[in-house]
Amino acid sequence: MGNTVLESKELCKTYILDKVSNNVLQNVDFKLKEGEFTAIMGPSGSGKSTLLYTLSGMDKMTSGKVIFDGEDLSGMNHKQLTDLRLHKMGFVFQQMYMLKKLCIMDNIILPGYQAKSRSKEEVNDRARKLMHNLGIDDIATNEISEVSGGQLQRACLCRALINSPKILFADEPTGALNSKSSAEVMNELRKANSEGTTILMVTHSEKVAASSDRVVYLVDGNIKGELNLGKQKDEAESAARERKLKNWLDEMGW
Ligand SMILES: Nc1ncnc2c1ncn2[C@@H]1O[C@H](COP(=O)(O)OP(=O)(O)O)[C@@H](O)[C@H]1O
Ligand SMILES: [Mg+2]
Repeated sequence: MGNTVLESKELCKTYILDKVSNNVLQNVDFKLKEGEFTAIMGPSGSGKSTLLYTLSGMDKMTSGKVIFDGEDLSGMNHKQLTDLRLHKMGFVFQQMYMLKKLCIMDNIILPGYQAKSRSKEEVNDRARKLMHNLGIDDIATNEISEVSGGQLQRACLCRALINSPKILFADEPTGALNSKSSAEVMNELRKANSEGTTILMVTHSEKVAASSDRVVYLVDGNIKGELNLGKQKDEAESAARERKLKNWLDEMGW
């Protein structure tokens, strides 16, 4: 693992609703190294999704800095942010922004065609491979409205990975999935990670978090602690990692 790829300094995000301010993120200092697979955990409402949105430039911060790949996101205009997202970032968010007029396969390949870093044939092949690995080859030509939430979630992951992003942001990517599909998603995430994609993922699942390299615990918009687990080498380590994580989460007040 190498350089810092993403960093926030005194990151704050305040929502104002009916003249009442809600300081959702309060001076978050956070660093993510290139190649790292980090999980964010914490109680519901602690600001995990907001942290992902502001770190990825999908939402504006109120104050502070976010530096991605050496560049300050707050200084970027709309076009620069759009280019950055297309070429270097992948997203699996709860609001999925899939295009309703396109079938599943076309949604997945679209950013691949737009980025033009691979030929159309290569993009198509990659899309088919990703869909196969995630167990959704059979819905390629389906409309968005014809598939289940879990299938849509996996299609979003295929789309997020189509351009082999430098960084992937995923908000509860296994949230709607059964254990078999969750395992497929985690395999694909680990594979992308081993091929160089840095991953920042929010999860409620101890099992899912236990296979990440590092777990960051968020409470009331602040980082309360972090646990370094290191890269998982094989399945045999799973049980011990989960136990270690559970004990630590107990200390955190999970
Ligand atoms: N778009 C928004 N407008 C106003 N308040 C919001 C918005 N998004 C989130 N919040 C508030 O920010 C807090 C943290 O939300 P969120 O980041 O979604 O938490 P988590 O993902 O940890 O459950 C909550 O109090 C939520 O109500
Ligand atoms: Mg959330």
